[in-house]
Amino acid sequence: MSENIISVKNLRKEYHDAAEATVALDSVTFDIAQGSFVAIMGPSGSGKSTLLHLLGLLDAPSSGTYHFNGKNITSYSGNELADLRNREVGFVFQAFNLLARTSVMENVKLPLMYSDDIPEAEWDERAAQAIEAVGLSNRINHDQSELSGGERQRVAIARALVTDPDVIFADEPTGNLDSKSGKNIMSILQRLNEKEGKTVVLITHETATADHAERIIRLMDGKIESDEKVKNRLTAESEYVK
Ligand SMILES: Nc1ncnc2c1ncn2[C@@H]1O[C@H](COP(=O)(O)OP(=O)(O)OP(=O)(O)O)[C@@H](O)[C@H]1O
Ligand SMILES: [Mg+2]
Repeated sequence: MSENIISVKNLRKEYHDAAEATVALDSVTFDIAQGSFVAIMGPSGSGKSTLLHLLGLLDAPSSGTYHFNGKNITSYSGNELADLRNREVGFVFQAFNLLARTSVMENVKLPLMYSDDIPEAEWDERAAQAIEAVGLSNRINHDQSELSGGERQRVAIARALVTDPDVIFADEPTGNLDSKSGKNIMSILQRLNEKEGKTVVLITHETATADHAERIIRLMDGKIESDEKVKNRLTAESEYVK
C-alpha cells in the first residue's frame, strides 16, 4: 500500500474529433494521500470530469504519468485498467445511473457480477451490508423508481461501496438533490472517509459541499489554478439528516 494512492505528473488530455482538437487537461501534477478527502472545483468546461475519468481509470491520458496505489498504470491496456477499476475504484455520478425497473438489492449487486474476486455466494450479504451502510435496509426490495432522489443517490453510493474499493470518485453527487438530501450524502461520504479510511475524490460546484473535504483543487482551462487545504472544514453529522 502506497502512502499516496494517487500520483499524477504532467497529465494531459486531448480530445480529437474530425474538425479540431480540444486540450481538456494540461500539465496537471499532484498527489492524493491514502485516506484523504479531496474536492475538485472549477467552472464548466475546466476539465473536472475529464480529470475524474482519468483518475478513476475510465480513460487514459494523452501524455503524462499516473501512479495508482504505487503502480505505474500509464501503459496499462484497456483490460488491465478495467480489472484494476473493478477491484479498487467506486463511482458515484450526478445522475445516479441506476437500472430501471430493478430493485435496490439488484442495483447494488451489479458491480459484483463484473468482479472475478468475489464468489457469488457472498453477493447477497455484501450487497446487504453496503445498503445498510447508507441506511436503506428498509428499502432493500423496493424498485429504485419508488425512491426519492436522495435515496437513489444513497443506492448509488452503496453500489460504489459493494466491492470494498480503496477510492470513491463522485462527480457532483449532490448536484441533483435538495440541500437536506445533499447534506445527508456528504455525511455518508465523510463517515466512509473517517471511519472506514476510504479515499474520497469528488467534484462539486458548491462551496458548502467542497468544505466537507480536507483539500480543494481548483481547475481553470484544464490547468490547476489552486490547491489548498480547507480552513474551516465542515464536520459530519453523527446521524443522518432524517
Ligand atoms: N468526449 C469529448 N470529446 C470532445 N471534447 C470533450 C469531450 N469531453 C469533454 N470535452 C471537452 O473538454 C473540456 C473539458 O470538459 P469536462 O467535461 O472535463 O469539463 P467539466 O469541468 O467537467 O465541466 P462541467 O462543470 O460542465 O461538467 C470541455 O471543453 C469539453 O467540451
Ligand atoms: Mg463535468
